[in-house]
Amino acid sequence: MDCFDSVLVSEQSKRQAYGAYYTPLRVASLLANWAITNRNDVVLEPCFGGCDFLEAIRDRFEVVDQQDFDSHIFGCDIDPSAFLHLSSRMRASTLTGNFLRGDFLSMTPRHFGQTGFDAVIGNPPYIKNDRISSFQLESIKRLTKETTKSIKGRVNLWAYFVAHAMSFLRAGGRMAFVLPGNFLTADYSAHLRNELSSKFAQVTAISVAERLFLSQGTEERTVVLLCEKYQQGNARPINVMYCSNVEELGNLLVTNVGAANNIPEIGDDYSRLTNEQNNVFSGVAKQINAGNIGKLGNVYIGIVLGDKKFFVRSLSEWKEESISDTYIRPIVSKFSYLNGICIRTYDIHAWKLADMPCFFLNTRGKRLGRIIRNYLETNVKHAEGSNSTFKRRDIWHQPDDGRIADAFIGCISHFGPRLVLNSKKIQAANSLYRFDFFSHVSNIERKVLAISLIATFSQLSAELQGRPLGSGGLKLEPKDIMNILIPMDTKKTAAEISIAFKEIDNLVRCSRHEAARLFADNFLFGTIITKEQQKVLCESLKRIRTHRHRE
Ligand SMILES: C[S@@+](CC[C@H](N)C(=O)[O-])C[C@H]1O[C@@H](n2cnc3c(N)ncnc32)[C@H](O)[C@@H]1O
Repeated sequence: MDCFDSVLVSEQSKRQAYGAYYTPLRVASLLANWAITNRNDVVLEPCFGGCDFLEAIRDRFEVVDQQDFDSHIFGCDIDPSAFLHLSSRMRASTLTGNFLRGDFLSMTPRHFGQTGFDAVIGNPPYIKNDRISSFQLESIKRLTKETTKSIKGRVNLWAYFVAHAMSFLRAGGRMAFVLPGNFLTADYSAHLRNELSSKFAQVTAISVAERLFLSQGTEERTVVLLCEKYQQGNARPINVMYCSNVEELGNLLVTNVGAANNIPEIGDDYSRLTNEQNNVFSGVAKQINAGNIGKLGNVYIGIVLGDKKFFVRSLSEWKEESISDTYIRPIVSKFSYLNGICIRTYDIHAWKLADMPCFFLNTRGKRLGRIIRNYLETNVKHAEGSNSTFKRRDIWHQPDDGRIADAFIGCISHFGPRLVLNSKKIQAANSLYRFDFFSHVSNIERKVLAISLIATFSQLSAELQGRPLGSGGLKLEPKDIMNILIPMDTKKTAAEISIAFKEIDNLVRCSRHEAARLFADNFLFGTIITKEQQKVLCESLKRIRTHRHRE
């Protein structure tokens, strides 16, 4: 076994270890057709995997009347099974030494016997920085200064591929990559984007709404990156374009790349507000005496379980293990299991009836009988060995920190954040945030916060604080939540607030999110802000969300 084989090898784990999601041929063909402009071009696919790009490159060369594939197509991949695809999908005549097995990040054009390439195209592996293997991190350390200049922070593996690919290009060369949505949105991509625009005469990023990798089990959004004329950079901002599906992508590639001048640029307000919308937002903030959520309480993460499947199960699963109810307590294991803006008794009944994994093992203060000891024994090796979370605990099988939060907020949301009052005093896992009110905040003020967060003004504030994810969701860090603006006082009576709270809770439970939002707007601000201001707030939220979802 060499260092490559020692990376996990089962099909499923290989996908994660190698970031092996293969591009559909119809997409690879569009990129190959765009990138190869001349029959004499020499092209590299730096991680050819399932070989769709190689096939597309070969087809393109046939169209431009180039049959001598050996002198024009090169590739590499770290995964031995990519070479099985190579022998089954490419003609024997193309199976020359042009295809190297190994780590692209350790290679230079010389490994392929070339001085440079006219085009580099492909779909690099997407692997989060903290999951990059140690051997891969070693080769990253050896990358040249020129390459690492384009990288700042803890980037995903794809960013290293894009940066390194530049060093393979001849002057005037082209790059075309299929990248995840966070090329446009992640903070860590900003530096690379700037570097690309300083190195190429023209950089275009096309965000594709159709999820291209659904059949391979990921909802990752795709951005097609097209870079033209290497070393003729003029620091022109990246053109950002959008399309709904592969067909539209094809049309754009043929007709329109580079002509997207009416599309807002990166760093500009393409996912933000116009000046007019900003003015209205600030004006409303003053009128409603807005302050941030941090004035009312504190956000902190749910309990860290260390092994969710071991600690959290459905009631029938605990029964199967013969674990008695004495050791089981309800837990919110996912924010999406919470339906309204408070937890009701029947929510917990519903979890039981639907046999949802919402019950966790709690041995704190309990005598450990034989059955429970046997169950713990099944995980004891894990407990004594590699699990660092278990090691940090006084008693490894007691994850509950005993802090029962006043409310919960999701870390990632599709529609926008929601505060759910923890009326049933249950525990939450670390896939969501817990929220504790300061002691001076009354019960009725807590309800007002839950209502306020649903309203358009605070939803908009949350969009401005949070970060859109490649999947289209909105990610909020604890500090983002603390900074969300809400109205600081309301002239409503306790009875009015309770009625509105109940109504909004019902609407949210029926997934009538828009109706709930408008109800909250009317209740809180109906007599304070003008119809025109309300219209602008709604349009602003729509604009910012459409950019986030891009569906
Ligand atoms: C997202 S897949 C894309 C495969 C192919 N380019 C396509 O679009 O169908 C990423 C590929 O990168 C390969 N890979 C991962 N790490 C690599 C490395 N360090 N050097 C070369 N290839 C690598 C994986 O084996 C996988 O085939």
